[in-house]
Amino acid sequence: MDTITLTRPDDWHLHVRDGAVLKDVVHWSAARFGRAIIMPNLVPPVTTTQAAIAYRERIMAALPPGSDFDPLMTLYLTDNTPAEEIARAAASGVIQAIKLYPAGATTNSDSGVTDIAHCAEALEAIAAHDLTLCIHGEVTHPHTDIFDREALFLEQRLAPLLDQHPTLRVVLEHLTTKAAVDFVREGPSRLGATITPQHLLMNRNDLLAGGIRPHHYCLPILKRERDREALIAAATSGHPRFFLGTDSAPHALEAKETGCGCAGIFTAPIALELYAQAFDQAGALERLEGFASHFGADFYGLPRNTQTITLERAAQAIPASLPYGDSTIVPLHGGHDIAWRVATPNPHSA
Ligand code: NCD
Ligand code: ZN
Repeated sequence: MDTITLTRPDDWHLHVRDGAVLKDVVHWSAARFGRAIIMPNLVPPVTTTQAAIAYRERIMAALPPGSDFDPLMTLYLTDNTPAEEIARAAASGVIQAIKLYPAGATTNSDSGVTDIAHCAEALEAIAAHDLTLCIHGEVTHPHTDIFDREALFLEQRLAPLLDQHPTLRVVLEHLTTKAAVDFVREGPSRLGATITPQHLLMNRNDLLAGGIRPHHYCLPILKRERDREALIAAATSGHPRFFLGTDSAPHALEAKETGCGCAGIFTAPIALELYAQAFDQAGALERLEGFASHFGADFYGLPRNTQTITLERAAQAIPASLPYGDSTIVPLHGGHDIAWRVATPNPHSA
């Protein structure tokens, strides 16, 4: 198969930031994806419906003319999010999900949840209003080994949460371990999961062996090869509760290439092509459409997109850096080639 035509995909986990850089990043996603779940970890975080509506307007204003990209907004859950705020979010019509960051788990998560028990009423309201809870699934005790944080979250936090909220719809985001794949497979039908392109294509050697590579650093951190293999098996299995979420997370070059670099990998310009590469390597290109374009919409109870996008097997040079406000940004594999590119509709060229 040298070309593949898909229903236009959606991105179920995306960071587009705010302010001057918004217009430098959001067009990449809009050129490929119909919709995206927009993460709320701005500074300060998007904790109210009013703030989410205003953020959505700034995103819409930053889109290229004529774009029909639809940002699906989220609220950032805190220890103090009132149930009434969840009701307002549901009534807004533009908020699809509430995001749970354990406090301190990742970039801009300081206002996150310190103890899920504090959120019982908000979680009940999320279920009652048929919104979705998206979870960054890592425990945060400083003494816990960074490579164990996701697996421990499953037993210590997620299993009890699913038990205590038996109708809550949950997306466990950016799976990185075989343990998480197994947990989702064995979990209830109201539990879905997203998988990023970097976790399908790389393991921790790509981060640390032969030199430290800050542009391969994200959270949850890359894991072992056997974990990557489990993620590939899940994504290419046709199982409808595993779907696409890039977690494209832009940071300026100087915030990545420094003594204490930020977590986050910028994949938006080539994310769909990266997934095509991963599925192609697994001999499963025919399964890409379900993962990229059908299963996420089905899980969220939204209609599938009607347009299509065609990818072709043809080398594309990934720019070594791209504009990012006053600075620049390095996309994943910047300066290298990738074997796939978008044929139609014409994406913005790099
Ligand atoms: C994300 C970011 O930069 O906002 N970083 C990351 O490594 N994935 C936050 C997140 O999703 O964890
Ligand atoms: Zn993220």
